[in-house]
Amino acid sequence: MFAYLSLGLALMPFVVSKTFDVQVGGPNGTLEFSPPALSAAVGDQVIFHFNPKNHSVFQSSFDSPCGPKEGGFQSPFMFVAANSSVDSRPTFTVTVNDTNPVWIYCAQAANTPASHCGQGMVFAINCPSDDSPNSLGNFKKEALAIGASLSSSAAAASATAGGYGGYGGYGGSEGSPTLTAAYGDVTIPPAPSATLVTAEITLDSSSIWTTVYTSFVNSPAATPVAADGAVHTVVVGGTGKLFFDPDHIIANPRDQVVFQFQQKNHSVIQSSFADPCRPLNSLNATAPPGFNSGFHAVDANQTDGFPTWTLTVNDTTPLWAYCGQTAPSSHCGAGMVFSINAVDNSTRNFAAFQSVAESLNGTGSASASGSGPAPSQTGNTGGALSLRVGGGASVVMALIAVAASLL
Ligand SMILES: *[C@@H]1O[C@H](CO)[C@@H](O)[C@H](O)[C@H]1NC(C)=O
Ligand SMILES: *[C@@H]1O[C@H](CO)[C@@H](O)[C@H](O)[C@H]1NC(C)=O
Ligand SMILES: *[C@@H]1O[C@H](CO)[C@@H](O)[C@H](O)[C@H]1NC(C)=O
Ligand SMILES: *[C@@H]1O[C@H](CO)[C@@H](O)[C@H](O)[C@H]1NC(C)=O
Ligand SMILES: *[C@@H]1O[C@H](CO)[C@@H](O)[C@H](O)[C@H]1NC(C)=O
Ligand SMILES: *[C@@H]1O[C@H](CO)[C@@H](O)[C@H](O)[C@H]1NC(C)=O
Ligand SMILES: *[C@@H]1O[C@H](CO)[C@@H](O)[C@H](O)[C@H]1NC(C)=O
Ligand SMILES: *[C@@H]1O[C@H](CO)[C@@H](O)[C@H](O)[C@H]1NC(C)=O
Ligand SMILES: *[C@@H]1O[C@H](CO)[C@@H](O)[C@H](O)[C@H]1NC(C)=O
Ligand SMILES: *[C@@H]1O[C@H](CO)[C@@H](O)[C@H](O)[C@H]1NC(C)=O
Repeated sequence: MFAYLSLGLALMPFVVSKTFDVQVGGPNGTLEFSPPALSAAVGDQVIFHFNPKNHSVFQSSFDSPCGPKEGGFQSPFMFVAANSSVDSRPTFTVTVNDTNPVWIYCAQAANTPASHCGQGMVFAINCPSDDSPNSLGNFKKEALAIGASLSSSAAAASATAGGYGGYGGYGGSEGSPTLTAAYGDVTIPPAPSATLVTAEITLDSSSIWTTVYTSFVNSPAATPVAADGAVHTVVVGGTGKLFFDPDHIIANPRDQVVFQFQQKNHSVIQSSFADPCRPLNSLNATAPPGFNSGFHAVDANQTDGFPTWTLTVNDTTPLWAYCGQTAPSSHCGAGMVFSINAVDNSTRNFAAFQSVAESLNGTGSASASGSGPAPSQTGNTGGALSLRVGGGASVVMALIAVAASLL
């Protein structure tokens, strides 16, 4: 290198080598290099300044924008807290050795829908002009195409994972089937269509999340609005009350739902839309079980100090639940069900869920008269996975496996 450099300098004795500053990541967490490209002479130095999030500077090639170039340079991943002072932030310096184009990308979350490169976070030194086939524009276009392809394969995987394999018969269009309930003679309306979204969330000064989630029309904001979230209180039962009050709510991730148990002996158990009165995944030992508060019995004369049970909301996927009491008769069958983030104007809104519960386990149902066929299989919720990094312990909140990466 020394020889190269001194040769360059020797040939251009009056040219002083320059330094260029490049910002890695935008000031507000945007996935970009700024400036997006630059021209430099042999011997010049490019200083990359890392802004908050967790970025890197990897060399790639025009043909493969989001993959490392063999023998190319690679900076470490630099995690930078949002509240770090600007002069404490790390840098990485690259010396320009020739005037050939140098293609660069951020390798964070490579090969996942959250890929920074796949979202256009690329850079170039000495790239050919805009009308050349090897322009920066075409390089970035290819990076974005890689990102789009990673997102659509994850969406397809999620649709499969959230499907209804082996569950009764169904018609309707693929992806949102109408199906027959596992017992009883009830048709389950199709699920509202969901899209897979990848979002990066900077919640406070020190925590950055990447979430991959299924988002539904009319869902609340899929991102936490505050570190602590809001608190929703739901009264369960009470004298002469066989219902949750309120019986359906809209909640953001990180919100807490405090169930306050009143008269009688109730519980809150997660189920699925298609199988409202049995625990989620109860017939599939390998699938994660849903939440279950356990039973809380409250005396008829009790007036305060009611027991509570708190649930944290982790994403905006519709959640379905019921009271598991069956003595002396099924509370679920009487319509004592509950939902969080049900899509109101879809065929799977709260009223439809309650009606499925009443039809399957209500007094007039085959199940109530004991003549229902043997249960076959539970459904599955669609879902989301979010990972939290930075500032405190990592919390993994998962419903189904959609790949996501720590940023
Ligand atoms: C970035 O954030 C600052 C203050 O938080 C704001 O003034 C500025 O407009 C934002 N810039 C962009 C590009 O969003
Ligand atoms: C930064 O990202 C890299 C690569 O994804 C990861 O290995 C590393 O743990 C991250 N660092 C922090 C502090 O999150
Ligand atoms: C950044 O915030 C975290 C917690 O939010 C705190 O522990 C840390 O000391 C802060 N760092 C600076 C440089 O202010
Ligand atoms: C220039 O050469 C040095 C020393 O071999 C190397 O570290 C650096 O990555 C090279 N720069 C480029 C742009 O390839
Ligand atoms: C049980 O759940 C696992 C994990 O969610 C899934 O891969 C498997 O296909 C399910 N089995 C059946 C029979 O549905
Ligand atoms: C509450 O109901 C459950 C389920 O029926 C039962 O096992 C439990 O014994 C009941 N608790 C009380 C105190 O009655
Ligand atoms: C409620 O009534 C039971 C007997 O039925 C009694 O043992 C208990 O002390 C009463 N509790 C309150 C708070 O009045
Ligand atoms: C529900 O409402 C949203 C927005 O208000 C609309 O885009 C969507 O088409 C509606 N869906 C149905 C099934 O009516
Ligand atoms: C609903 O009916 C099914 C089928 O008979 C039964 O397995 C389940 O325990 C019932 N659930 C409730 C809460 O009544
Ligand atoms: C959210 O995540 C926490 C921690 O993993 C878990 O205990 C809780 O049950 C999850 N909430 C829901 C609604 O699944």
